[in-house]
Order: sequence, then C-alpha cells, then structure tokens
Amino acid sequence: MKFYMPVLVYQEENVIWNHREELRQYGKKALVVTGRHSSKVNGSQKDLEAALDDQGIKYVFFSEIEENPSMETAEKAAEYGKQEGVDFVIGMGGGSAMDASKAIALLIKNPEETKEVFYQNKPLLALPVIAIPTTAGTGSEVTPYAILTIHEKRTKKSISHRIFPKMALLDSKYLSYAGEKITKNTYADILGHLVESFLHAKSDSYNRMCSSYGMKLWSKLCQPVASMEMTKEDYARLSETGMIAGMAITHTGTSLPHGMSYALTYEYQIPHGKAVGIFLPFFLAIYEDQEAVNEVLSYLDFGSVEEVSEYMKSLLGKVEVSHEDRERFFHSFAADTARHKAYPYSIGEKQLREMYEDALSVR
Ligand SMILES: [Fe+2]
Repeated sequence: MKFYMPVLVYQEENVIWNHREELRQYGKKALVVTGRHSSKVNGSQKDLEAALDDQGIKYVFFSEIEENPSMETAEKAAEYGKQEGVDFVIGMGGGSAMDASKAIALLIKNPEETKEVFYQNKPLLALPVIAIPTTAGTGSEVTPYAILTIHEKRTKKSISHRIFPKMALLDSKYLSYAGEKITKNTYADILGHLVESFLHAKSDSYNRMCSSYGMKLWSKLCQPVASMEMTKEDYARLSETGMIAGMAITHTGTSLPHGMSYALTYEYQIPHGKAVGIFLPFFLAIYEDQEAVNEVLSYLDFGSVEEVSEYMKSLLGKVEVSHEDRERFFHSFAADTARHKAYPYSIGEKQLREMYEDALSVR
C-alpha cells in the first residue's frame, strides 16, 4: 500500500492573504494562469494581486486558458512565461487553469522541449506550481494530473509527467460565483472521482479512507446542490469534498466513466462533470462486486443504484447521442484496452455497449 500526498493544503477564509508570505519561497516572479473571465468576476484575481504586491513578488498573467485546454495553449503560455523570465507558476480557476499550469511549468523549466514532450516518458522537473481552485470539482489542486486536449486524437488525456502543486490555497467564497450549471456538473465530477477511485483496480484501504470519507461529505450536499440553496458552510464542505476526492484519485486514477466521458466532451461539447455523471449509475449497475457497490451506496446514503440514477438525471438532465455515434464511441473505447485496466474485473463488450446504450439514449 502507498500513500503519498506531498501538497501543502490550506483551506480557510481569506486564504491567499493569510499565506501570502509563504509564496515568497517559490520564486520572485510568477506566471499566473487563469481562464478568461471567472477570476475577475469571483474576486480571486484581485485577492492574489494584493497578496503578491504586498510581498513584492512580480507577476504576469496568462488569461487565455480555454475549457479543456489544448497542448497548443499550454505551449503558448509557456513561451510567454519564458520570455518573461518567471520562476514559478500559479494556476488559478477551475481544473482547466490548474491542469494547464502544471504542463506550462514543465515546459518553462525545460526550454529546449516542445509540446510533444507532454506525452513522452522523460524524467523532467517542472517549476513550482501553486494551485488556487475557484470551483470544486477536479481536485487538480492536490493531484499530479494535467489533462490536456489532444486535437489530433480527438480526445483528452493526462500528460505523462506527474506534477504535484507545491501548495494549494482553498477559499470557498469563490465557489458561489460559479453558477448553477458549473456547480452541478462539478459536483457530479466529484462523485465520479470518489466512486471510481473506491472501485478502482488500484484501490486499497489508504485510498478508501479518502474516498469513503469524501462520499459521506458528498451525501450531505445532495439537497443543497440540487436546490442550489447553499449556505457558506455548504460551499466550504463542497470545497473540502472536491479536494478529498482529488486525493483519492491521486492514488488510483479514474475508471470507466471518466474514460468513456472524454470522447463525449470532445465531440458533443458536454462539460466534463456532466459527461462523467451520466455514465456513473450504469457503471454501478454493471460493476461485478455488488457488495462493494452496496458499500458505496451506504456512504452516499442512497437506497439503490436506481436512486443514484434518478438523482443524477435530475441534477444533470439527459444526453442524447445518435445510434451511429454511440456505436463509434463504443468501438473506440472497446479497443482502448489501456483504459480498461482501471476496472478490476474483465469487462465484456456486452457490458460496455450496454453502458453506452443506457446512458446515451433517451427513452
Ligand atoms: Fe473528473
């Protein structure tokens, strides 16, 4: 068994300001990586600027990270960071900004490399990364993963390099600006991380310590998230749940629902959490060890897989995909045997096809 979680995590109100002095140990000039708008709207950009100014840390912004960031965008940001002579990277925003910041930190540290190195197995170091999540979902602030879009392959995949942030600063006040759709989708993503990690081929009792605790936290938010009547405490709990789920997948990776979701996000532009969430109940239904599924249900406080299915439908709505595309997605995933290794039993084509049929056809 192994447990390795080398990220310094702080979760509290005004976290950036409270820990501003600690930022100095990571460098003198930062590249701050964000999406286009959210960090301006939720106040995180202003908070970070105040903290960096106070400490005399120089910084430049790269604010062009798109949803599901591409290898090309990461390379462009790294070029900018190199020109500016930055010595650490701050990823602030949702999973896209934080994931991209890791890939960018790798390229800046290794200026002779190009974006091709993302998927090569070379032992390379990266600049220090600080992660400031402003949505709760991917858990990227504590994971070593950086999922990028590979346009040539029409899918998404984590880069080969494992880059843990040095420090994660969580302040749940930013979460309330995310809006209903993002909150619900990312809440579904968290469930995916917890369940897929718990039922993963690599799962062990250390990992289940994170994922079972995370599922208990998650279950307390079912009603508040569904109704979007969330208190300050609910947002703090959501932030914690997303982070714990990140710790869970750090030790296992994700499983079939994530693997199956990527093509759907690429081809149908379905947001990541929603794409994962619509497969999840069907994953529970086909999972070979139904005793383990019952354990999951008890942590989540659901009476049956059908209840999970109903809840996810009410949370996310439905996704309809043409028969031809379902077949295409099925064949492509069935051939991608590397992704099946996350499943601890042998997975038959019949079961996989059923998951696509049940999740993606509206009846
Ligand atoms: Fe995810």
